[in-house]
Amino acid sequence: MISEGSLTTQFEAHIDRAIDDILASLPNPEQLPPDERRGIIARYTAVLEGNFIYWMSAGHLSVVSEEAKSVIQDNLLEEVRDSHPEMLRKFAMCACAVPTDSDALAVYGNLRNVRLFVGRLQGVEILLMMAFFEGFIVKFMPYLAELAKKRGSAERAYTDVHGTCDIVHTQELFRALDAEMTLMHDRLAPATELIEGVGILRRLIENIIHPCVAANPNHDNHRCSGNMA
Ligand SMILES: [Fe+2]
Repeated sequence: MISEGSLTTQFEAHIDRAIDDILASLPNPEQLPPDERRGIIARYTAVLEGNFIYWMSAGHLSVVSEEAKSVIQDNLLEEVRDSHPEMLRKFAMCACAVPTDSDALAVYGNLRNVRLFVGRLQGVEILLMMAFFEGFIVKFMPYLAELAKKRGSAERAYTDVHGTCDIVHTQELFRALDAEMTLMHDRLAPATELIEGVGILRRLIENIIHPCVAANPNHDNHRCSGNMA
């Protein structure tokens, strides 16, 4: 999976492939029933609204290089100063897609797995996971905006902002990753272990898109009866 060459470049390619795979699995908005258009927006909101800043903060607590701390700090500053959670809440409200308890339960097992992973406070691993997250968000925004449009919403602040600013954020996170790995080079886990968080978050993102993606059976007590479409 991860082979020769600059490790950061290899990770970047791995993450790009993971994002492309997810995008290729997106159901056609035209063919989605209205309640599933609502469901994707609601589950996305349930995951992002209260967790993005928390997970990025965990990255800040975990990294040791000044470069990585500075990159994450800039990212957090923008999130808090510009009230990105409020921006997302408004987006969901305007699309009549505010998360319900059912939406929260649909992603609960996979969300918990990400939280437990983040709680290990491993800097390089969290940076990789968040670079994947930011990279996915950028490319997912046109699809999310299309779903909202089909639900009659003209609210675009959240998708417009995240379709552009996260491009820079993703690049910066890879720069932070490079600095962190350089500083930690003699203490790094094998590459396949470093990318564990990418796989755990990928499962959660797939769960946002497809409501019955079960969490890893080693950890999950709330599996649905169906499978990913
Ligand atoms: Fe944001």
